[in-house]
Amino acid sequence: MKKLVLLVGIILTIYSCQEQESKTDISIIPKPLKIEVTKQSFSINKNTAIVFQHGDDGFEKAALYLKDEILKNLNLDLKVTTTENYSGNNSVVLDQEEDAGIGLEGYLLDVSKKNVSITAQTPNGVFYGVQTLLQLLSNDIPEKENQFGNVVKGVKIYDKPRFEWRGMHLDVCRHFYDKEFVKRYIDLLAMHKMNTFHWHLTEDQGWRIEIKKYPKLTEVGSFRDETVIGKNSGKFDGIPHSGFYSQEDIKEIVQYASDRFITIVPEIEMPGHSLAALAAYPEYGCAGGPYKVAKTWGVFEDVYCAGNDKTFEFLENVLAEVVQLFPGKYIHIGGDECPKKQWEVCSKCQKRIKDEGLENEFELQSYFIRRVEKYLLANDKKLIGWDEILEGGLAPEATVMSWRGTEGGIKSAKMGHYVVMSPNDECYFDHYQGEPESEPFAIGGFTSLEDVYKYEPIPKELSEAEAKYILGAQANVWTEYIVTEEHLEYMILPRMCALSEVVWTDSESKNYESFLKSLSTHLKRLERKSYNYRPI
Ligand code: ACM
Ligand code: ZN
Repeated sequence: MKKLVLLVGIILTIYSCQEQESKTDISIIPKPLKIEVTKQSFSINKNTAIVFQHGDDGFEKAALYLKDEILKNLNLDLKVTTTENYSGNNSVVLDQEEDAGIGLEGYLLDVSKKNVSITAQTPNGVFYGVQTLLQLLSNDIPEKENQFGNVVKGVKIYDKPRFEWRGMHLDVCRHFYDKEFVKRYIDLLAMHKMNTFHWHLTEDQGWRIEIKKYPKLTEVGSFRDETVIGKNSGKFDGIPHSGFYSQEDIKEIVQYASDRFITIVPEIEMPGHSLAALAAYPEYGCAGGPYKVAKTWGVFEDVYCAGNDKTFEFLENVLAEVVQLFPGKYIHIGGDECPKKQWEVCSKCQKRIKDEGLENEFELQSYFIRRVEKYLLANDKKLIGWDEILEGGLAPEATVMSWRGTEGGIKSAKMGHYVVMSPNDECYFDHYQGEPESEPFAIGGFTSLEDVYKYEPIPKELSEAEAKYILGAQANVWTEYIVTEEHLEYMILPRMCALSEVVWTDSESKNYESFLKSLSTHLKRLERKSYNYRPI
């Protein structure tokens, strides 16, 4: 009870001190809901203990993560113990408070001379408090080899996210990125309090996930002989491109993400964008092949046959393994950019249309997605797909990712379906972020740092009740023209920092000028971790 009174006290004091916020020189991205600067400060030394809520694995995970970060960045090997076994001072306490009133991902952080306390209802919340603490330790980057200073400035912070889906996508198919880089990418998500990694694993140009039942998916589908130069110039580089993740790799990455409170949403594309799978198993295409893994970019007419029951058997077998590997509730099934030309001339597809009483090929696509949704629901998963899955009728429980602008998202929310906003104008990080003449070659478009920052995920067309269906937002990173890790980091940084405030920070607390000020400190943090970014 005493603790609760103290917490309420902290919250009230923080609310009453909002005015002070603008005067602080504390740079935390994404910006917390409320910060009060105090005169207290805490110094970490070799005797500081990290103390976590006794008996909770999640709190222990957050404590071990903090220990590891302090070891890496401050070269101090701190003791980790539980609240039951430690009552002294000189500690960072990760504590649970069921009634803290800060939601499932919120936290309170309080710095005194004797301790730092991070209090949350859940391990997730405490982990975000830990992220804030790490940023406090690297607020003034010292001019020595350690990445962190050891002094935590006096603050009381009350913080919680605005949205529950705070995501980044990565296309590892157009160009493959290895396991170590994927972890580095996940580290960036964690640092920015993002919680969803959308992993685009299959495409026309490459299949990147091992499926034990269908070994040719990776034996054949993960290779292409060469890649077109530039935008389908007709000239090729003559360099074979390949790569895939074994199921062991996937398990390792899923665990790595889970240790950072990040859920992975795997994407297995269907019915279009599937040439690599068809190159391996041509019997599941309308025309029967032969097919080749694509070496040019774009949208291809060869897609899965929707009239063949064996296609669904194949996809269900693939999904059976995917479902086992990824513990999150969502499976992304793509659904975008599926040309209907093959279906129009395929006798099996036409028979399906007739037998099922469908109007046209758009309804056939809807039949396809609904059938896959049934399978996923039976396996305790939820289907999410790009906004084309609205065409021909949305599957009953589908969640929609709105990429062709916001229209699909608006329509879905009005129909009572959950939505993730990812409109291409503001959330496509493969777009140019400056004048094309002075930027690396990109797919096109223009999405500046400011465009991202000022993006508002709740469309004004929605009522308050409909707005509840907007789960959040994410940015997409398609890699047709992004070949190196340095280039990929350049494309996402600092736009991802801006996105983190879009999805975390309350809209009233957002301010582009103050974001830029914090960003100048934040970029030094990224630099110390050797991330490449576009200078501001
Ligand atoms: C997409 O960009 N085709 C989802
Ligand atoms: Zn067909």
